[in-house]
Amino acid sequence: MKDKRIILGITGSIAAYKAAILERALVKKGAEVQVIITSAGKEFITPLTLSTLSRRPVISEFFARNDGSWNSHVDLGLWADAMLIAPATASTIGKMANGIADNMLVTTYLSCRAQVFVAPAMDMDMYAHPAVQQNLDRLRSFGDIIIEPGTGELASQLTGKGRMEEPDVIIEKLEIFFAKQNELRTKKILVTAGPTFEKIDPVRFIGNYSSGKMGFSLAEECAQRGADVCLVTGPVALQTKHPRIRRIDVETADEMYEAAIAHFPQADAGILCAAVADYRPATVATEKIKKDSEPLPIQLTTNQDIAASLGSLKRKNQVLIGFALETNDGIVHATAKLKKKNFDFIVLNMLDEPGAGFRGDTNKIHIIEQNREITSFPLKNKQAVASDIIDKLIAYLQ
Ligand code: PMT
Repeated sequence: MKDKRIILGITGSIAAYKAAILERALVKKGAEVQVIITSAGKEFITPLTLSTLSRRPVISEFFARNDGSWNSHVDLGLWADAMLIAPATASTIGKMANGIADNMLVTTYLSCRAQVFVAPAMDMDMYAHPAVQQNLDRLRSFGDIIIEPGTGELASQLTGKGRMEEPDVIIEKLEIFFAKQNELRTKKILVTAGPTFEKIDPVRFIGNYSSGKMGFSLAEECAQRGADVCLVTGPVALQTKHPRIRRIDVETADEMYEAAIAHFPQADAGILCAAVADYRPATVATEKIKKDSEPLPIQLTTNQDIAASLGSLKRKNQVLIGFALETNDGIVHATAKLKKKNFDFIVLNMLDEPGAGFRGDTNKIHIIEQNREITSFPLKNKQAVASDIIDKLIAYLQ
């Protein structure tokens, strides 16, 4: 935590008193803390307390005085190594999720390039409301880390989930984040993600349900840990956030093959998460195929197996990770792919396990290694799943 520059955002919740404890602990650990507090936050804790702890003036308004000086949210966003919003009320979470920049805190959030941590605090029914949960999901999709509230007695005297997580737990999460930041420094990682689309005619294609979420989470996780990432992705509706991710958009398996073959030699590791079409139409009609009363047979031809090609090119100091999405006999099929494609390990996700596989924000995985060791993980969000996979990759790279 030493010399880390942290923006601590404080909003209007009774848990604001915990923010002072949090701030003091961060400063004690050597961090530079800049507090930004909302008007409602100041009803719960005074700026004087907070500025005394951080030895820096607390920022609350866009304009500091009536003399033409103002607080630059852009400068603050660039200054920070991390932004922590604790406590985060339903109102601030809603503004962040929808880009409503009507105060200094949310404006700085929108300008912030560093990792953002959000520690919600509110009544249990508010927290459980779909509006709040959807907003939190949105923040997760932007790459923010949500520090789930604890369960216990609330300010309303009801008991439930909504208490801001304790300061020591929040600090531990930040410490883990910073400790992991350099783990992949100097490493180059190739990631494939998303589906491929194989053209039938100018308006139709053969595709699959991959959203790219799992592959993008892996790319993000590698970049957050210091790697330079080359992300080769099929057609998806996702955006990349991290400056260390270089994205190459492709459509077909052939294009993905060309990009992967070109970039794998420079990589320390390849993570092949894409759901690549095994077949493509043998011929692509140049005009739109017209409807007929007769059935329409489409002749398919085999696509190149990117994974098998990289597996045969793999050098001793490179690590290759494959994925397998199976509907039945998962371990058997995934183990066969592990061997056939020369992966170091393969990540199996089963379509019949609730919350696993395509499209959703969660996954449930089993890692199978060459020595037949199998590690099964509980259901987690895809960013946390990516973190488990990258932990394993790091062990291999060492
Ligand atoms: O994108 P999401 O919606 O988040 O969903 C994630 C996912 C379910 C797509 C992902 O977790 C996953 O399982 N990806 C692999 C899908 C799959 O079943 O792959 P496969 O069994 O067809 O191929 C096995 C391995 O070979 C994979 O690493 C694949 O990328 C690779 N392969 C396959 C065929 C081919 N022509 N070239 C390849 O490189």
